[in-house]
Formats: sequence, C-alpha cells, structure tokens
Amino acid sequence: MNIAVQNVCFAYNSHPILQNVSLEVQKGQVVSIVGPNGAGKSTLLKCMARLLKPQGGTVYLNGKDIAGQKSRELAKAMGYVPQNIRDVFPFTVLETVLMGRKPHLTWDVGDEDFRVVTQVMKFLEIEELAERPLDQLSGGQKQKVFVARALAQQPEVFLFDEPTSNLDVRHQLEVFATIKQLAVTEGRTVIVVVHDLNLANRFSDTLVMLKQGAIYAAGKPEQVITEDNIREVYNVSVAIMESIYGNYVLPLEPLKESAG
Ligand SMILES: Nc1ncnc2c1ncn2[C@@H]1O[C@H](COP(=O)(O)OP(=O)(O)OP(=O)(O)O)[C@@H](O)[C@H]1O
Ligand SMILES: [Mg+2]
Repeated sequence: MNIAVQNVCFAYNSHPILQNVSLEVQKGQVVSIVGPNGAGKSTLLKCMARLLKPQGGTVYLNGKDIAGQKSRELAKAMGYVPQNIRDVFPFTVLETVLMGRKPHLTWDVGDEDFRVVTQVMKFLEIEELAERPLDQLSGGQKQKVFVARALAQQPEVFLFDEPTSNLDVRHQLEVFATIKQLAVTEGRTVIVVVHDLNLANRFSDTLVMLKQGAIYAAGKPEQVITEDNIREVYNVSVAIMESIYGNYVLPLEPLKESAG
C-alpha cells in the first residue's frame, strides 16, 4: 500500500502548525521524518493515522481518501505507535500485544492470534515479560511492547513516532533492523519519526526534514543530511564524516545566532 499526504494543513485551536505538507511513501519503502522539537512531526503522523483531522489537504491510502474509510478497515491497514506511552492502563504485556489483533478478531481470540502474538514477543525478546503489568515496566520495555503491538497488528502501513527514544543502542539497532525487514522482506510501508540523524541516515530510503511545520528538505538521506540543512533547521554546527559504513553526523555545537 502506498500512503500520500497532499497539501495537509493543520492548526490546534487556530494556531497553525502544519503548512501545506505533501509527501508520498511507496510500498516497501522506509521514510524517516526528522526535525527539531515542536516542528510538527507527531502532528503530521497523527493526521496520517486519522487521529487528527487536517483543516486542509488530504491523506490517501492507495489513492483513497482516509477521511471516508471505515475505522476497522483503517485499523487493519495502518498501525500507529504513539510517542507518549507514559499514561498506560495496568494491562499485562500479553494483553497489550493481543490488542494489536483487535482489527482481525471475529468473535474471540483465536489460535492464529496467539500464534502471531507469541512469535512477535519472542522476536522482540519480551516473552518473559508476558504477565507483567505494563505500568511496572521500564521506559524501554514499555516502548518495545508498543512496537510489538503494532507488529502483531500486521498492517500494511506502519507509523512509528520515535519508537527508539527510550532504547539502548542494541535495542535501537534491533528495532531499526526490524523496520527495514518489514519494508524489504514483507513489502510493508513504513513512516518513522526519529531524532537520531544517524539512524535515519542509515535505515531510510527517503528522509523528510521538517522545519516549523513545513518540509524543508526531502530526498535521499545524503541529500538531506548535509551540514547546511542541519545548521538551517536545528541551528547547530555539525561535521559530516565519511566512513566505510557510510556518512555519519557528528554534532559539534549549538549556534548562538538564530538560523532564521
Ligand atoms: N494537543 C495540542 N494542543 C495544542 N498545541 C499542540 C498540541 N500538540 C502539539 N501542539 C503544538 O504543536 C507543535 C507541534 O507539536 P508536535 O508534537 O507535532 O511536535 P514534534 O515535531 O513531534 O516535536 P517533538 O520532537 O518534541 O516530539 C508544538 O508547538 C506543540 O506545542
Ligand atoms: Mg513528537
């Protein structure tokens, strides 16, 4: 499935945030959205997940406006992992991951649902947490549970909002390797918001850099991750270093003058 955002404008209480944002993500592609705090990344993802209704523009799933689609169909097609998972109900880990199967359930949880959930929990190495209540987990453990819930949902399109922000370096790599695998091996479509420019650089096909609610740069990672773009958008100086593993970004210092 492909997902397209066309001229989306969004305002919270008539305070404009997104300004004419357009992007298209093809089946089998990983697109990372980067940008400073408050740039509108989460707002954009919520518009794509239909959790927010844009005042202008349209989001299309396989060419169909999502505004008119049935909730259950949308839930089957799109999996969304929110950024803020602090306020959780005291469900167990197993119950939470099983909730990912909800769009697929007919009457009750079936063998196939348990099979998928068990497989996903094993894969993300959280099976030993199965009976633990969610509100007693560490930030990183909780984050993995929400990634697991989205995987269990088996949607065509994944929307991840900073899925690795609480994870240690090993788990960050695991989650991004999983994201890449979803796209390459299973042909899923993945949109991921991430602050780590090196992870974005390494694991995405396309990078979208947001500045104050508008797309500042978009394209291949090496076209977007440049010293100039990063200075203009984040107001920091960086060095782009070449290595045998590809380029990487070394942040140097915050600049005093506003980048305008
Ligand atoms: N529910 C809300 N009501 C009013 N304003 C909001 C709401 N949610 C976000 N905003 C504002 O909209 C702007 C964009 O917020 P958003 O959460 O999309 O940013 P972000 O790019 O995801 O930032 P971060 O990197 O910190 O997660 C911010 O200025 C924020 O204060
Ligand atoms: Mg955010």
